[in-house]
This record gives sequence, structure tokens and C-alpha cells, in this order.
Amino acid sequence: MATERLRLGVNIDHVATVRNARGGAVPDPVRAAKLAEAAGADGITAHLREDRRHIRDGDIERLAAELSVPLNFEMAATAEMQAIALRIRPHAVCVVPERREERTTEGGLDVAGDEARLADYIAPLREAGSRVSMFIAADRAQIEASARIGAAVVELHTGGYCDAHAEGRFGERDAELARLREMSAHAHSLGLEVHAGHGLTYDTVAPVAAFPEMRELNIGHFLIGEAIFLGLEGAIREMRRLMDGARG
Ligand code: PXP
Repeated sequence: MATERLRLGVNIDHVATVRNARGGAVPDPVRAAKLAEAAGADGITAHLREDRRHIRDGDIERLAAELSVPLNFEMAATAEMQAIALRIRPHAVCVVPERREERTTEGGLDVAGDEARLADYIAPLREAGSRVSMFIAADRAQIEASARIGAAVVELHTGGYCDAHAEGRFGERDAELARLREMSAHAHSLGLEVHAGHGLTYDTVAPVAAFPEMRELNIGHFLIGEAIFLGLEGAIREMRRLMDGARG
């Protein structure tokens, strides 16, 4: 299979986390998004959480109005978020599980266990023209359910792989990576576009970027942290270089 260019979606949620720590207007996540765009991001990802802990409604409005690259709107499968997505009509919607008490999106969405409701839930989003993605574990049943409900994309959760690497559990890391690789191929064989994200860093990105079926990586926390040292542009360019290198 030809390895097409891999897209990088930059998640700017944690610029808003820093802003909200003081409750004011700076640093502005929309300014960061425009800088990311200039540095080579192929898209901007933002998660409007139910508790508005980082991105706020006004940020989404401004991102939708001001970006030149596609906006990937991450959201829980609630009526409130569906109404916002139908009004904004972002290029892409990524449906994620959300629990108020979690620090970040901890697991994948249970599409197989909630298939009929999610099929109904995403239908109007598809009709409105958004490319719908399901954020799931690299699990056969979840992938097959995502295909059945008509999702265009699955985003595979790389958190377990990245945590295992960071904690030196290399056997588990390699097993997670093998599962991600196998399930990327399976999802692709069902006609789904394959994306991945969560917890990716300079140390963990290359093996995932090398999967021939992979079309997009969404990366946030590490890049925003690295921007403290390298600047946002430098941080993104280095990630892009590693991704391109892995594609050979
Ligand atoms: N993809 C999805 C669906 C996510 O929920 C997140 C975290 O918001 C990311 C990618 C980016 O993860 P990270 O910030 O750890 O790079």
C-alpha cells in the first residue's frame, strides 16, 4: 500500500487550560491555533467538555470562523454537543467518552455497547456534512460497530501504548503497538479511515506514524508542553519531521 502523507492535527485544549488557570483571556487558544497552522498543522482539534474546563463555547465559535485548516471538534455524545456541532458544522466531529471526574479521556468509546443510540446520534451530523469519527480502543468489536453505524473514521486510542512506554513496561508497549497495527489494518479493510491519538510524544510517534493505513494523528498535551522549551512552531516542526521520517 502506498504510504500517503500523514496529517497532523494539533490539539490546542491545553493553551486554554493555562488561560483558565487565571480566568482571563491569555494565552489565547485561537492565536495558538493560527500559529500551529502556520507551522504546518493540517488541522486543529479542540474538545469542548461538558464542564468547560479548558475550551469554551466562544473559542469554538472563533476557531470555526477564523481557521483556514479544518476544525476537528471533539465532543461527548450528548444532546447539548450535538446541537452545537449542528450549528457550527465543523469539518470533523470526533465522538469521545467523557466522565466529569477524569483528568483526560481515559478510554475509548463503547460503540458496540451503545450501537443503536450512536447510529441515531451521528446520523444528523453526517447529514450536516461533518466527517464523523469514533474515538475507540484498538478493539475488533468496537471497530466493526463503528463501521456498522456509518462512521467515516475511527481514531484509535494510543494512551495505553504511550503509558507503557513512559513507565518502562516495554513488553506491554510492544503488545499494544502490535494490537494498534493489526486493528489499523482491520479498520482500513472495512473502509474506515484510520486516525490515532492520545499521549503521543517524540519518543512514541514514529512506530504509529509508520502504519501504512494511518491517515491522521491528533496530538496536544505534549506539543503544548514542549512549546515552553522550543516555541509552538519549533515543537510542531519537530513532530512533523519525525512523522515524515517514519513514513520513509
Ligand atoms: N484524540 C482524542 C480523541 C483526544 O481526546 C485527545 C485528548 O483530548 C487527543 C487526541 C490528544 O491527546 P494528547 O493531548 O494526549 O496528545
